[in-house]
Amino acid sequence: MELRADRLSVLRGERPVLRNSSCTLPPGSRVLMLGHSGAGKTTLFKALAGLVTPSSGQVLWNGEDVARMAPTEKRARQAAFGMVFQTDALFDSLTVRQNVLLPLERRRVPREEAEARADEVLRAVGLTEAADALPERLSGGMRKRAGIARALAARPSVLLADDPFAGLDPGTARQVARVLLEVAGSGSLIVAAPDVPPELPLARWLYLRDGALLYDGPPAPEVETLTDEALA
Ligand SMILES: Nc1ncnc2c1ncn2[C@@H]1O[C@H](COP(=O)(O)OP(=O)(O)OP(=O)(O)O)[C@@H](O)[C@H]1O
Ligand SMILES: [Mg+2]
Repeated sequence: MELRADRLSVLRGERPVLRNSSCTLPPGSRVLMLGHSGAGKTTLFKALAGLVTPSSGQVLWNGEDVARMAPTEKRARQAAFGMVFQTDALFDSLTVRQNVLLPLERRRVPREEAEARADEVLRAVGLTEAADALPERLSGGMRKRAGIARALAARPSVLLADDPFAGLDPGTARQVARVLLEVAGSGSLIVAAPDVPPELPLARWLYLRDGALLYDGPPAPEVETLTDEALA
């Protein structure tokens, strides 16, 4: 399923935080999103996921404008999306396992299968022991991994991972990278992170600066130092 941003702009108050940005993500995309703090990476993710309404431009899902979809189509599209939030957004009154089960219940995955999948992803991110704990009992890195497990359990065909390695030690980051790659399977994986463990090959880079998507191409370590003229 192809996802496309077509001249997308997002305003926060009066201020444009995403400006006229376009990109096409065919199925199986492996993308690294780069950009300084405040460049608009999270905003672009949220717009792609339909959590933020663009002030102009469109998000197209298989060629169809998401803003004009009927409710049933919208739900089907939501079900195809997984988001690892930058701040983990766990429900504090639910245990880790219940947090992971929630999106599966929403998708009406049968109970037995849902529980098997929850256990599988919790094992993959190393949280089996913490499955019955409330999030407040977890360390920052454990919460991060719980958020990742929740996004992965639904086996989304597009997985947006916003800063998934922040606060993880190198070993855990590598483990999470392997899990992301494995679960993405034939679907798309878009990762916003300042750097990525070598386990996760992302051969396409997107670079945002001040809300504008300035680069879309193969890995180019010099991209963050280029001037606007060089990128244009
Ligand atoms: N809810 C909001 N209300 C007002 N301004 C916002 C809101 N969310 C984001 N912004 C602003 O939009 C701009 C882009 O923010 P965004 O979170 O997309 O950046 P980012 O690239 O993800 O940064 P970081 O690397 O720090 O996560 C920032 O200037 C931020 O202050
Ligand atoms: Mg962000």
